[in-house]
Amino acid sequence: MTCKVVVLISGSGSNLQALIDSLQADSPAQISAVISNRADAFGLQRAAKAGITTQVLDHKAFADREAFDGALIEAIDAYQADLVILAGFMRILTLGFVTHYTGRLLNIHPSLLPKYKGLHTHQRALEAGDTEHGCSVHFVTEELDGGPLVVQAVVPVMADDTADTLAERVHAAEHQIYPLAMHWFAQGRLQLDERGCQLDGQLLPASGQVIRTF
Ligand code: GRF
Repeated sequence: MTCKVVVLISGSGSNLQALIDSLQADSPAQISAVISNRADAFGLQRAAKAGITTQVLDHKAFADREAFDGALIEAIDAYQADLVILAGFMRILTLGFVTHYTGRLLNIHPSLLPKYKGLHTHQRALEAGDTEHGCSVHFVTEELDGGPLVVQAVVPVMADDTADTLAERVHAAEHQIYPLAMHWFAQGRLQLDERGCQLDGQLLPASGQVIRTF
């Protein structure tokens, strides 16, 4: 059984690249398409290079958020997606969209959620004097950056870190945990139900599975 994955991007797509690089012939995960709301997203080139179908759906061509999300649902469903992965997709999604994909919509966020929802997470971690920072993969619910956590990677904050050096360390960790979560889902090991995230039939803690990189 293959698990058809559609990846949504807006930019560089380094997480998309990590997902592509993690695909093996015997993996049930198959990236059916990459959809971007921006025609100039570099991730589209990464997908094309890997022989993956790409599609651009420009949000500016739609009257409002509902119309765009409706068209996005149509585009995704045309690929019969089992799993939708947000990989730097810089759009706030409507409740209708999120509900349509309940339990099969994943996002990655560059902080140890529930800390630092929203933007500028690395700068905020530095300003707070945190000694640890990281990234989180979660199922998407209507609360922005708020859905049940699947896996987190913890990285150290060094005394001489800038937002850029810290971002680089977090990015490397993102590239580890996003493929992990995709393969868990594709292998049927990861589910979301009313109790929370289940991995191999066990309820995960509220933090999701925690991976320490040091
Ligand atoms: C990542 O930092 C991710 O956590 C956030 O958007 C960024 C996407 O980066 N959601 P890339 O396009 O995958 O390089």
